[in-house]
Amino acid sequence: MQVKVIDHPLIQHKLSLIRDINTGTKEFRELLEEIAMLMAYELTRNLPLEETEIETPLTKCKCKVLTGKKLGVVPILRAGLGMVNGVLKLIPAAKVGHIGVYRDPETLKPVEYYCKLPTDVAEREFIIIDPMLATGGSAVAAIEMLKVRGARNIKLMCLVAAPEGVKAVSARHPDVEIYTAAVDSHLNDHGYIVPGLGDAGDRIFGTK
Ligand code: PRP
Ligand code: URA
Repeated sequence: MQVKVIDHPLIQHKLSLIRDINTGTKEFRELLEEIAMLMAYELTRNLPLEETEIETPLTKCKCKVLTGKKLGVVPILRAGLGMVNGVLKLIPAAKVGHIGVYRDPETLKPVEYYCKLPTDVAEREFIIIDPMLATGGSAVAAIEMLKVRGARNIKLMCLVAAPEGVKAVSARHPDVEIYTAAVDSHLNDHGYIVPGLGDAGDRIFGTK
């Protein structure tokens, strides 16, 4: 299974706060953005560097800078939007695509309704972001939407995953690495992650 749990103490602390039923919308949004930024730090660990010459106030020296690899960040609407700004704080040059997929509450199957991506899909490395990986249906659909448009290099970043979702994505897309802050216990009868954090979209946007 291609899953990496990012267990940095700051992320784990903020994740506990975000799970709390008493955490309100404003704080939830702030925490989600902060966690997304910290996770992006880990996800970008292997970005390629090249040497360049810099002149400091004292002397010239060889220093390392990013090669300028093209990156794309793709939130799954709606809840993925809550992680975009955190990621962009670290990689501001990334282009942002949007994929609209919601989960039918009865069947728990993904329903696709929107897709807008950068034009040069095949040249970019993509990070799909969505706080919740439950059955995995939405993530599998989003990855397929990217792949049919030419994407070849995709990572999935979520906040909380269920074992069922990790299994589904790994089985369908073994090439996609999954990064998460936690793999929780299981899904309940309504497809919610337990213990989870509830409905991420509703908690971000204050809906019910
Ligand atoms: C949530 C969540 C994921 C999906 C995960 O979105 O943000 O996209 O459910 O569930 P899955 O792994 O079983 O597919 P939701 O369908 O509630 O849509 P919303 O973000 O628009 O509220
Ligand atoms: N979507 C959510 O927002 N939360 C869950 O626990 C499962 C799917």
